[in-house]
Amino acid sequence: MSAGGALGASLLPALVAQEKSSVPPSSPKNIEALSELVCLADFEAAARERMSVTAYEYIASGAADEITIRWNREAFDKLALRPRVLVDVERIDTSVELFGQKLDFPILLAPTALHRLVHPEGEVETARGAGVAKATFVVSSFSTRRFEDIAHATSEPLWFQLYDLAKDRHGLVRDLVQELKGLGCRALCVTVDAPVVGARNRQARAHFRIPDDFDTPYYDRKKAKLYAGLPVMGSFTWDDIAWLRSTTDLPLLLKGILNPEDADLAIRSGVNGLIVSNHGGRCLDTLPATISVLPQIIERVARRVPVLVDGGVRRGTDVMKAVALGAKAVLIGRPYLYGLAAGGASGVSKVVEVLRNEFTMAMALTGRRSLAEIDRSVVW
Ligand SMILES: Cc1cc2nc3c(=O)[nH]c(=O)nc-3n(C[C@H](O)[C@H](O)[C@H](O)COP(=O)(O)O)c2cc1C
Repeated sequence: MSAGGALGASLLPALVAQEKSSVPPSSPKNIEALSELVCLADFEAAARERMSVTAYEYIASGAADEITIRWNREAFDKLALRPRVLVDVERIDTSVELFGQKLDFPILLAPTALHRLVHPEGEVETARGAGVAKATFVVSSFSTRRFEDIAHATSEPLWFQLYDLAKDRHGLVRDLVQELKGLGCRALCVTVDAPVVGARNRQARAHFRIPDDFDTPYYDRKKAKLYAGLPVMGSFTWDDIAWLRSTTDLPLLLKGILNPEDADLAIRSGVNGLIVSNHGGRCLDTLPATISVLPQIIERVARRVPVLVDGGVRRGTDVMKAVALGAKAVLIGRPYLYGLAAGGASGVSKVVEVLRNEFTMAMALTGRRSLAEIDRSVVW
């Protein structure tokens, strides 16, 4: 994480002093230590102390030379903000409506795989944190816990992310979607930017593999097709998106749209929303930064559906820039995994709280009182 303000290791007394495995991530001692973490970069430093090298490499790394990871951050950093002063900002409203859901703030937890890598309770613990923070959590197809268990842990809405819609899986997917709906799932995201995983060099060097004792209820490892030892998710196409559209009335989003042509096709396929994403730089290196692409997508979409964005969001000012350039909301990936590793549910909720507070401050300091007031003029 390159956002400024990282705590040096010497400023993490309680966390660093603990033996890696001696204090459970959500013990009171650890919660106290969490108060030392004041920005999202601090959580990465703290989490790293508590994670195996393999888990850290899996989460932090990206594809190939990690140029896209770097660009995701640099593009946010290069945008300057244009303030307005002497606006009465005593009351700030960060809420937004999305698919009939009222979100208190425009920040969601992106789908990320294998939460058991950093916490024994896995996605159930993440959901507890999301519940405390009042954040919507998008559960990954590579979840290590069942959706019903995750749903019991939070009163906030859950969405589910799907990978493989290949024709021979339609029956399975139809049953799963029906089951998810019955369990209260509020939206589906189909990830379309990862038909193969990408050149994960750091992951390979760290010899990452899914631990044998992990249950992955929505991913059958025995049946998985592999390419260079990594799963292949995609022999599916626009036809399968149209098929999924015809089987469910749940809001449907495509995650991983970067090309305006694809945005157009997606809307014509009947999807309800788009997520501009380069998979956190984990699939195809040298894809552009998501915040740089967002304006083109917004222009092509022309308000037909809401557009969300993820990739490199680490500061409240990043959330503001994304909203200014037309996003309805942002998602964060790695930061909340670091929160989970550093402090379990409390770590997850603290990460969201820090980002939300920073966003509110950025609104006050630019004289914007509601999301409707955050338009392009706030970017210099
Ligand atoms: C460890 C890890 C696992 C991920 N697993 C998935 C996944 O299972 N499905 C998916 O659609 N995206 C996955 N992503 C991508 C995220 O949903 C998201 O696009 C990305 O993390 C956003 O960038 P950020 O980490 O810079 O916030 C994963 C990302 C990370 C870091």
